[in-house]
Amino acid sequence: MSSRRLLTVRDFEAPAREALAPAHYDYFAGGACDEITLAENEAAFRRIALLPRILRGAAQPDLAVELLGCRAATPIMIAPTAFHRIAHPDGEIATARAATAAGAIMIASMASTIAIEEVALRAAETGTPRLWFQLYLQPDLGFTESVVRRAEAAGCNALVLTVDSAVFGRHERDDRNDFHQLPDGLACENLRDADGVVRPIRMSPEFSWRHLEWLRSITDLPVVLKGVLHPDDGRLAVEAGAAAVVVSNHGGRQLDTAPATIQALPAVVRAVDGRIPVLLDGGIRRGTDALKALALGASAVAIGRPVIWGLTVDGEKGVAEVLDILCAELEHAMVLCGYDALTDLGADLLRLPSGE
Ligand code: FNR
Repeated sequence: MSSRRLLTVRDFEAPAREALAPAHYDYFAGGACDEITLAENEAAFRRIALLPRILRGAAQPDLAVELLGCRAATPIMIAPTAFHRIAHPDGEIATARAATAAGAIMIASMASTIAIEEVALRAAETGTPRLWFQLYLQPDLGFTESVVRRAEAAGCNALVLTVDSAVFGRHERDDRNDFHQLPDGLACENLRDADGVVRPIRMSPEFSWRHLEWLRSITDLPVVLKGVLHPDDGRLAVEAGAAAVVVSNHGGRQLDTAPATIQALPAVVRAVDGRIPVLLDGGIRRGTDALKALALGASAVAIGRPVIWGLTVDGEKGVAEVLDILCAELEHAMVLCGYDALTDLGADLLRLPSGE
Protein backbone atom coordinates (compact mmCIF):
# COMPACT_ATOMS: atom_id res chain seq x y z
CA MET A 1 0.00 0.00 0.00
CA SER A 2 1.40 3.42 -0.90
CA SER A 3 1.83 5.77 2.04
CA ARG A 4 2.72 8.85 -0.01
CA ARG A 5 -0.22 10.86 1.23
CA LEU A 6 0.40 10.10 4.84
CA LEU A 7 1.85 13.34 6.16
CA THR A 8 1.48 12.92 9.89
CA VAL A 9 1.79 10.06 12.32
CA ARG A 10 -1.94 10.21 12.93
CA ASP A 11 -2.55 9.77 9.20
CA PHE A 12 -1.27 6.19 9.53
CA GLU A 13 -3.95 5.07 11.96
CA ALA A 14 -6.97 5.01 9.61
CA PRO A 15 -5.33 2.89 6.88
CA ALA A 16 -3.88 0.61 9.58
CA ARG A 17 -7.35 0.19 11.02
CA GLU A 18 -8.69 -0.71 7.58
CA ALA A 19 -5.96 -3.28 7.04
CA LEU A 20 -6.29 -5.02 10.41
CA ALA A 21 -8.99 -7.41 11.60
CA PRO A 22 -11.19 -5.40 14.01
CA ALA A 23 -10.11 -7.46 17.05
CA HIS A 24 -6.46 -6.92 16.16
CA TYR A 25 -6.94 -3.19 15.68
CA ASP A 26 -8.66 -3.04 19.08
CA TYR A 27 -5.81 -4.97 20.70
CA PHE A 28 -3.25 -2.45 19.47
CA ALA A 29 -5.34 0.71 19.92
CA GLY A 30 -7.04 -0.10 23.20
CA GLY A 31 -6.31 0.76 26.80
CA ALA A 32 -7.43 -0.44 30.20
CA CYS A 33 -11.03 -0.11 31.44
CA ASP A 34 -12.55 3.27 30.49
CA GLU A 35 -9.39 4.28 28.62
CA ILE A 36 -9.15 7.51 30.59
CA THR A 37 -5.38 7.33 30.92
CA LEU A 38 -5.08 6.37 27.26
CA ALA A 39 -6.91 9.55 26.21
CA GLU A 40 -5.17 11.74 28.81
CA ASN A 41 -1.71 10.77 27.58
CA GLU A 42 -2.44 12.66 24.37
CA ALA A 43 -4.74 15.34 25.81
CA ALA A 44 -2.23 16.47 28.44
CA PHE A 45 0.29 17.36 25.72
CA ARG A 46 -2.32 19.57 24.06
CA ARG A 47 -2.77 21.58 27.27
CA ILE A 48 0.90 22.58 27.35
CA ALA A 49 1.87 25.62 25.29
CA LEU A 50 5.26 26.27 23.72
CA LEU A 51 6.66 29.74 24.31
CA PRO A 52 9.18 30.29 21.51
CA ARG A 53 12.27 32.50 21.52
CA ILE A 54 13.12 34.75 18.57
CA LEU A 55 16.17 35.69 16.50
CA ARG A 56 18.26 32.75 17.63
CA GLY A 57 18.75 29.03 16.97
CA ALA A 58 20.03 27.21 13.90
CA ALA A 59 18.66 25.74 10.69
CA GLN A 60 19.80 22.24 11.59
CA PRO A 61 19.34 21.39 15.27
CA ASP A 62 21.42 18.52 16.56
CA LEU A 63 19.17 15.64 17.61
CA ALA A 64 21.92 13.15 18.49
CA VAL A 65 21.88 11.68 22.00
CA GLU A 66 23.98 9.28 23.99
CA LEU A 67 22.04 6.99 26.31
CA LEU A 68 23.66 4.31 28.45
CA GLY A 69 26.63 4.24 26.10
CA CYS A 70 24.42 4.02 23.01
CA ARG A 71 24.86 6.86 20.52
CA ALA A 72 21.60 7.48 18.68
CA ALA A 73 20.77 9.92 15.89
CA THR A 74 17.52 10.91 17.58
CA PRO A 75 15.96 11.11 21.04
CA ILE A 76 12.88 9.39 19.61
CA MET A 77 12.98 5.70 20.46
CA ILE A 78 10.76 2.74 19.72
CA ALA A 79 8.84 1.54 22.79
CA PRO A 80 8.45 -2.19 23.31
CA THR A 81 5.17 -3.46 21.87
CA ALA A 82 4.09 -7.06 21.49
CA PHE A 83 3.07 -9.16 18.49
CA HIS A 84 4.41 -7.21 15.49
CA ARG A 85 3.67 -10.09 13.12
CA ILE A 86 -0.03 -9.45 13.63
CA ALA A 87 0.59 -6.04 12.07
CA HIS A 88 2.87 -7.20 9.26
CA PRO A 89 4.39 -10.52 8.17
CA ASP A 90 7.92 -9.12 8.57
CA GLY A 91 7.07 -8.26 12.18
CA GLU A 92 9.81 -7.11 14.53
CA ILE A 93 12.44 -7.56 11.81
CA ALA A 94 10.84 -4.74 9.81
CA THR A 95 10.62 -2.52 12.89
CA ALA A 96 14.21 -3.14 13.93
CA ARG A 97 15.57 -2.59 10.41
CA ALA A 98 13.78 0.75 10.16
CA ALA A 99 14.99 1.82 13.60
CA THR A 100 18.56 0.78 12.82
CA ALA A 101 18.59 2.58 9.48
CA ALA A 102 17.34 5.73 11.24
CA GLY A 103 19.94 5.42 14.01
CA ALA A 104 17.15 5.11 16.58
CA ILE A 105 17.09 2.91 19.66
CA MET A 106 14.50 0.14 19.60
CA ILE A 107 13.35 -1.58 22.75
CA ALA A 108 12.40 -5.07 21.59
CA SER A 109 9.50 -6.60 23.51
CA MET A 110 9.86 -9.85 25.36
CA ALA A 111 6.53 -10.68 23.69
CA SER A 112 7.98 -10.40 20.18
CA THR A 113 6.74 -12.73 17.50
CA ILE A 114 10.27 -13.07 16.09
CA ALA A 115 13.19 -14.23 18.23
CA ILE A 116 15.58 -11.54 19.42
CA GLU A 117 18.54 -13.33 17.78
CA GLU A 118 16.91 -13.11 14.35
CA VAL A 119 15.74 -9.54 14.89
CA ALA A 120 19.27 -8.44 15.80
CA LEU A 121 20.81 -10.27 12.86
CA ARG A 122 18.44 -8.82 10.28
CA ALA A 123 18.63 -5.32 11.77
CA ALA A 124 22.43 -5.41 11.40
CA GLU A 125 21.93 -5.53 7.61
CA THR A 126 20.78 -1.90 7.70
CA GLY A 127 23.37 -0.44 10.10
CA THR A 128 24.50 -0.75 13.69
CA PRO A 129 21.53 -1.94 15.73
CA ARG A 130 20.76 -0.12 18.93
CA LEU A 131 18.60 -2.77 20.51
CA TRP A 132 17.47 -2.81 24.10
CA PHE A 133 15.54 -5.81 25.40
CA GLN A 134 12.34 -5.47 27.43
CA LEU A 135 11.78 -8.03 30.11
CA TYR A 136 8.94 -9.14 32.37
CA LEU A 137 10.41 -11.06 35.29
CA GLN A 138 9.05 -14.58 35.25
CA PRO A 139 8.39 -16.45 38.51
CA ASP A 140 10.80 -19.11 37.22
CA LEU A 141 13.95 -17.03 37.70
CA GLY A 142 16.08 -19.67 36.01
CA PHE A 143 13.99 -19.22 32.88
CA THR A 144 14.17 -15.43 33.23
CA GLU A 145 17.95 -15.74 33.38
CA SER A 146 18.01 -17.85 30.21
CA VAL A 147 16.05 -15.12 28.40
CA VAL A 148 18.56 -12.51 29.66
CA ARG A 149 21.41 -14.64 28.31
CA ARG A 150 19.74 -14.75 24.91
CA ALA A 151 19.35 -10.96 24.86
CA GLU A 152 22.99 -10.53 25.83
CA ALA A 153 24.19 -13.00 23.20
CA ALA A 154 22.08 -11.23 20.55
CA GLY A 155 24.01 -8.03 21.29
CA CYS A 156 21.34 -6.04 23.12
CA ASN A 157 22.77 -2.95 24.83
CA ALA A 158 20.42 -2.72 27.82
CA LEU A 159 17.62 -4.52 29.63
CA VAL A 160 14.34 -2.71 30.18
CA LEU A 161 12.46 -4.21 33.10
CA THR A 162 8.76 -3.42 32.93
CA VAL A 163 7.50 -2.91 36.47
CA ASP A 164 3.96 -1.57 36.00
CA SER A 165 2.45 -5.00 35.43
CA ALA A 166 2.01 -6.83 38.73
CA VAL A 167 -1.02 -8.32 37.00
CA PHE A 168 -2.35 -7.92 33.46
CA GLY A 169 -4.34 -4.75 32.82
CA ARG A 170 -8.04 -5.11 32.07
CA HIS A 171 -8.45 -4.82 28.32
CA GLU A 172 -12.19 -4.80 27.94
CA ARG A 173 -12.04 -4.42 24.16
CA ASP A 174 -10.16 -7.73 24.03
CA ASP A 175 -12.69 -9.33 26.37
CA ARG A 176 -15.57 -8.16 24.20
CA ASN A 177 -13.79 -9.41 21.06
CA ASP A 178 -12.74 -12.60 22.81
CA PHE A 179 -9.18 -11.91 21.64
CA HIS A 180 -6.96 -13.82 24.01
CA GLN A 181 -4.49 -15.67 21.88
CA LEU A 182 -2.20 -15.15 18.95
CA PRO A 183 -3.37 -16.23 15.51
CA ASP A 184 -2.19 -19.69 14.40
CA GLY A 185 1.44 -19.81 13.41
CA LEU A 186 2.51 -16.91 15.63
CA ALA A 187 4.16 -17.27 19.03
CA CYS A 188 6.19 -15.31 21.55
CA GLU A 189 9.52 -16.57 20.30
CA ASN A 190 11.56 -15.10 23.16
CA LEU A 191 9.61 -17.32 25.53
CA ARG A 192 10.57 -20.54 23.80
CA ASP A 193 12.49 -22.61 26.32
CA ALA A 194 15.37 -25.03 25.82
CA ASP A 195 12.86 -27.78 24.96
CA GLY A 196 11.31 -25.65 22.23
CA VAL A 197 8.13 -25.06 24.24
CA VAL A 198 6.74 -21.51 24.28
CA ARG A 199 6.01 -20.60 27.87
CA PRO A 200 3.06 -18.31 28.64
CA ILE A 201 4.04 -14.86 29.98
CA ARG A 202 3.30 -14.70 33.67
CA MET A 203 2.87 -11.57 35.75
CA SER A 204 3.38 -11.69 39.49
CA PRO A 205 2.64 -9.21 42.28
CA GLU A 206 5.33 -10.97 44.35
CA PHE A 207 8.20 -9.14 42.72
CA SER A 208 9.98 -6.47 44.75
CA TRP A 209 13.08 -4.27 44.71
CA ARG A 210 15.06 -7.35 45.74
CA HIS A 211 14.40 -8.80 42.29
CA LEU A 212 15.95 -5.76 40.66
CA GLU A 213 18.99 -6.45 42.80
CA TRP A 214 18.92 -10.07 41.61
CA LEU A 215 18.65 -9.02 37.95
CA ARG A 216 21.57 -6.63 38.33
CA SER A 217 23.61 -9.40 39.93
CA ILE A 218 23.23 -11.76 36.96
CA THR A 219 24.05 -9.31 34.15
CA ASP A 220 26.50 -6.58 33.26
CA LEU A 221 23.94 -4.86 31.03
CA PRO A 222 22.43 -1.62 32.33
CA VAL A 223 18.94 -2.21 33.72
CA VAL A 224 16.28 0.38 32.95
CA LEU A 225 13.03 0.44 34.95
CA LYS A 226 9.96 1.04 32.80
CA GLY A 227 6.68 2.14 34.33
CA VAL A 228 7.71 4.67 36.97
CA LEU A 229 5.09 7.32 37.79
CA HIS A 230 5.62 8.20 41.47
CA PRO A 231 8.60 10.42 42.35
CA ASP A 232 9.44 8.23 45.37
CA ASP A 233 9.86 5.28 42.99
CA GLY A 234 12.19 7.42 40.86
CA ARG A 235 14.32 8.00 43.96
CA LEU A 236 14.19 4.31 44.94
CA ALA A 237 15.16 3.31 41.40
CA VAL A 238 18.31 5.43 41.62
CA GLU A 239 19.17 3.96 45.03
CA ALA A 240 18.57 0.44 43.71
CA GLY A 241 21.04 0.98 40.88
CA ALA A 242 18.69 1.36 37.91
CA ALA A 243 20.58 2.81 34.94
CA ALA A 244 17.56 4.86 33.82
CA VAL A 245 13.81 5.03 34.35
CA VAL A 246 11.00 5.29 31.85
CA VAL A 247 8.05 7.37 33.00
CA SER A 248 5.30 5.27 31.50
CA ASN A 249 1.77 4.10 32.19
CA HIS A 250 2.07 1.38 29.56
CA GLY A 251 0.19 3.50 27.03
CA GLY A 252 -2.85 3.53 29.34
CA ARG A 253 -3.06 -0.27 29.27
CA GLN A 254 -2.46 -1.08 32.94
CA LEU A 255 -3.96 1.08 35.71
CA ASP A 256 -6.73 3.24 34.31
CA THR A 257 -6.91 6.80 35.70
CA ALA A 258 -3.15 6.79 36.36
CA PRO A 259 -1.88 10.23 35.36
CA ALA A 260 -0.79 11.14 31.86
CA THR A 261 2.94 10.55 31.62
CA ILE A 262 3.74 14.17 30.74
CA GLN A 263 1.99 15.17 34.00
CA ALA A 264 3.97 12.67 36.04
CA LEU A 265 7.32 13.54 34.42
CA PRO A 266 8.35 16.76 36.26
CA ALA A 267 8.14 15.27 39.77
CA VAL A 268 10.10 12.17 38.72
CA VAL A 269 12.75 14.37 37.07
CA ARG A 270 13.06 16.38 40.30
CA ALA A 271 13.33 13.23 42.42
CA VAL A 272 15.93 11.63 40.16
CA ASP A 273 17.82 14.93 40.14
CA GLY A 274 20.07 14.25 37.15
CA ARG A 275 21.59 11.08 38.62
CA ILE A 276 20.27 8.81 35.83
CA PRO A 277 18.44 9.53 32.59
CA VAL A 278 14.65 9.80 32.70
CA LEU A 279 12.80 8.69 29.57
CA LEU A 280 9.10 9.00 28.78
CA ASP A 281 6.53 7.24 26.64
CA GLY A 282 2.79 7.63 26.14
CA GLY A 283 0.83 9.81 23.77
CA ILE A 284 3.67 11.16 21.64
CA ARG A 285 2.08 11.85 18.26
CA ARG A 286 3.83 15.06 17.16
CA GLY A 287 7.33 16.48 17.24
CA THR A 288 5.99 19.16 19.57
CA ASP A 289 4.94 16.44 22.06
CA ALA A 290 8.50 15.09 22.05
CA LEU A 291 9.86 18.62 22.46
CA LYS A 292 7.64 19.24 25.49
CA ALA A 293 8.83 16.05 27.20
CA LEU A 294 12.47 16.88 26.45
CA ALA A 295 11.97 20.41 27.80
CA LEU A 296 10.54 18.93 31.02
CA GLY A 297 13.71 16.92 31.54
CA ALA A 298 13.27 13.68 29.59
CA SER A 299 16.50 12.54 27.90
CA ALA A 300 14.51 10.70 25.24
CA VAL A 301 10.96 9.66 24.40
CA ALA A 302 9.54 6.44 23.01
CA ILE A 303 6.60 5.75 20.72
CA GLY A 304 4.37 2.68 20.79
CA ARG A 305 1.20 2.71 18.70
CA PRO A 306 2.51 5.02 15.93
CA VAL A 307 5.09 2.34 15.12
CA ILE A 308 2.36 -0.30 14.91
CA TRP A 309 0.37 1.87 12.50
CA GLY A 310 3.44 2.46 10.30
CA LEU A 311 4.32 -1.22 10.35
CA THR A 312 0.78 -2.27 9.43
CA VAL A 313 0.55 0.18 6.54
CA ASP A 314 3.90 -0.43 4.91
CA GLY A 315 6.20 -2.70 6.91
CA GLU A 316 9.78 -1.49 7.28
CA LYS A 317 9.11 1.51 5.06
CA GLY A 318 6.08 2.53 7.10
CA VAL A 319 8.04 2.45 10.36
CA ALA A 320 10.83 4.43 8.69
CA GLU A 321 8.31 7.05 7.59
CA VAL A 322 6.79 7.36 11.04
CA LEU A 323 10.22 7.88 12.59
CA ASP A 324 11.19 10.30 9.84
CA ILE A 325 8.01 12.37 10.25
CA LEU A 326 8.42 12.67 14.03
CA CYS A 327 12.13 13.53 13.81
CA ALA A 328 11.47 16.15 11.12
CA GLU A 329 8.64 17.63 13.21
CA LEU A 330 10.87 17.76 16.29
CA GLU A 331 13.60 19.49 14.30
CA HIS A 332 11.11 21.96 12.83
CA ALA A 333 9.64 22.76 16.25
CA MET A 334 13.12 23.34 17.68
CA VAL A 335 13.95 25.79 14.91
CA LEU A 336 10.67 27.63 15.45
CA CYS A 337 11.38 27.77 19.19
CA GLY A 338 14.90 29.08 18.64
CA TYR A 339 16.83 26.08 19.99
CA ASP A 340 19.64 24.19 18.25
CA ALA A 341 20.71 21.79 21.01
CA LEU A 342 18.65 19.34 23.04
CA THR A 343 20.79 20.12 26.07
CA ASP A 344 19.61 23.75 26.04
CA LEU A 345 15.95 22.80 26.35
CA GLY A 346 14.32 23.70 29.65
CA ALA A 347 10.97 24.35 31.25
CA ASP A 348 11.14 28.06 30.36
CA LEU A 349 10.11 26.95 26.86
CA LEU A 350 6.74 25.84 28.22
CA ARG A 351 3.61 27.28 29.70
CA LEU A 352 1.97 24.55 31.78
CA PRO A 353 -1.73 24.71 32.58
CA SER A 354 -2.24 26.03 36.09
CA GLY A 355 -2.49 23.30 38.69
CA GLU A 356 -0.34 20.82 36.69
C1 FNR B 1 2.53 -2.10 24.68
N1 FNR B 1 3.43 -1.81 25.70
C2 FNR B 1 4.30 -2.78 26.15
N2 FNR B 1 5.21 -2.49 27.10
C3 FNR B 1 6.09 -3.42 27.53
O1 FNR B 1 6.91 -3.13 28.39
N3 FNR B 1 6.09 -4.66 26.96
C4 FNR B 1 5.20 -5.04 26.01
O2 FNR B 1 5.23 -6.16 25.52
C5 FNR B 1 4.24 -4.08 25.59
N4 FNR B 1 3.30 -4.39 24.65
C6 FNR B 1 2.46 -3.43 24.17
C7 FNR B 1 1.57 -3.74 23.16
C8 FNR B 1 0.76 -2.75 22.61
C9 FNR B 1 -0.17 -3.10 21.50
C10 FNR B 1 0.86 -1.42 23.09
C11 FNR B 1 0.03 -0.33 22.49
C12 FNR B 1 1.72 -1.12 24.11
C13 FNR B 1 3.55 -0.42 26.21
C14 FNR B 1 4.52 0.39 25.36
O3 FNR B 1 5.84 0.00 25.61
C15 FNR B 1 4.45 1.90 25.67
O4 FNR B 1 4.54 2.09 27.06
C16 FNR B 1 3.19 2.58 25.14
O5 FNR B 1 2.77 2.01 23.92
C17 FNR B 1 3.45 4.06 24.91
O6 FNR B 1 2.30 4.72 24.56
P1 FNR B 1 1.88 5.11 23.04
O7 FNR B 1 3.11 5.66 22.34
O8 FNR B 1 1.38 3.85 22.42
O9 FNR B 1 0.83 6.13 23.27
